[in-house]
Amino acid sequence: MKVVTLNSHRSVNRGSFEIVQITDCHLGGAPGDCLLGLNTDESLRDVLEQARAHTKPNLLLATGDISGDGSFASYQRFLSITKQYFPDVPLAWLPGNHDELDNMVLASRDVAGNTPIERVFRTSNWNLLFLDSTVPEEDGGEINPSELKRLESELSQHPDVPTLIFLHHQPVAVGSAWVDSYIVKNHREFFRVIDKFDNVKGISWGHVHQEFYVERKGVPLMASPSTCVQFAPNVDYFKIDNRMPGYRNYRLNSNGTFATDTCRVQDKSYNIDYSSTGY
Ligand SMILES: [Fe+2]
Repeated sequence: MKVVTLNSHRSVNRGSFEIVQITDCHLGGAPGDCLLGLNTDESLRDVLEQARAHTKPNLLLATGDISGDGSFASYQRFLSITKQYFPDVPLAWLPGNHDELDNMVLASRDVAGNTPIERVFRTSNWNLLFLDSTVPEEDGGEINPSELKRLESELSQHPDVPTLIFLHHQPVAVGSAWVDSYIVKNHREFFRVIDKFDNVKGISWGHVHQEFYVERKGVPLMASPSTCVQFAPNVDYFKIDNRMPGYRNYRLNSNGTFATDTCRVQDKSYNIDYSSTGY
């Protein structure tokens, strides 16, 4: 795999292009660390196993909260685990509110030949833009002025290239008051940029630990299930859902259309503390 820097791009030349999106893995500093009783290494492995059995991705993408504690060791382990399941598939990642960007960068520079892509990925037909929506010391999201400028610049430089945008926080409310308190604060500014362009074909995020899909002005807005615990949808207080860990996949067609679906771990039970009122 080619080593890239923060501002670099990757290009591939293929027909249809498949992405597996994993998110909110919440790996701990030590192997087997748990979140609300769930071994998050184990659930990540289960999701990757499921994805390996059902897809042939051209890109594996992690949309933040890869770590639960921001530790260097958690990113090292994430890189090692993902490489075990998808040794020949490029990896892209972006940070979430639980991540420590410095440690992500350090860990990624530590693994020869496995450096994740961090800003833009170009296929022969599509552009994939990865935005940083994190705010230091805060759980909520915001897209800072330089990221907004980068977004606008990318879209205006390639107005005819169908584009998917990925970030960690939700830019629209998903219907749960507690999790929607972390919505991208400047979502109106974000959509003001988006609305200037007609090549944005979809926007996707993590953070909400649940499947979500709506359309805004004909553009799909989507969230992926977490690879660990799921949050119950449409409740205003913190509630763990009994749905299984999962991922979202995308098949991008050369004519600018795409198909997406979610897939969850099957035939498994986990020891999760469903009575928890927070994490
Ligand atoms: Fe998050």
